[in-house]
Amino acid sequence: MISYEWRGDLADAEMLDLVQSHGGDPVAGWWPRVREHSLGWVTARDAEGVLVGFVNVAWDGGDHAFLLDPKTRSRFQRRGIGTALVGHAVDRAREAGCEWLHVDFDDHLAPFYFDACGFRSTPAGLIHLHHAE
Ligand SMILES: CC(C)(COP(=O)(O)OP(=O)(O)OC[C@H]1O[C@@H](n2cnc3c(N)ncnc32)[C@H](O)[C@@H]1OP(=O)(O)O)[C@@H](O)C(=O)NCCC(=O)NCCS
Repeated sequence: MISYEWRGDLADAEMLDLVQSHGGDPVAGWWPRVREHSLGWVTARDAEGVLVGFVNVAWDGGDHAFLLDPKTRSRFQRRGIGTALVGHAVDRAREAGCEWLHVDFDDHLAPFYFDACGFRSTPAGLIHLHHAE
C-alpha cells in the first residue's frame, strides 16, 4: 500500500536516506535549498510512512514546468512507483496552469520516460556550464 502526496512534509534526513538507498550521492541541505524553487513535489510513502519515492517539479511561473530528480527506494523499484510519481506530477502541473512538462535523462532511462510515463521525444539543448568555454 503506497500513498502519494503533493507538497507533503519531507525532512532533509529522509531525502538523504532515500538518495543513499538507490546508490546516489546524498548532500545534506540539498532538499531545503531546492524546495524554495519548486512548484511542488510528490512523495510516496509505504504503510509505515517510510519515504519510498520522490519527484520534484520546478517551473518558470508560467507555461513551463520541469520534472526533476525522480527517485524510488531501491528495494521498491520496478513496482510502478516511479510511473505513479510522474503521473501525479503531470496532474498537478496541469492543475497549476502549466502547458508543458519538460524532462531530460540518460539514454538507458528512455523506456521509463517514453514508454511508462508518456513523454515524447523532442529536440532539446543543454550546456554544461561548469565546463563551458
Ligand atoms: C528511474 C526510477 C525513478 C524508476 O522508478 P521505478 O519505481 O522503478 O519505476 P517503475 O516501476 O514505474 O518503472 C516503469 C517502467 O519503466 C522502465 N524502467 C524503470 N526503471 C528503469 C531503468 N532503471 N532502466 C530502464 N527502464 C526502466 C521499465 O520499463 C519499467 O517497467 P517494468 O518494470 O515492467 O520493466 C528508479 O529507477 C530510480 O530511482 N533510479 C535512480 C535515480 C535515477 O536515476 N533517477 C532518474 C534521474 S533522470
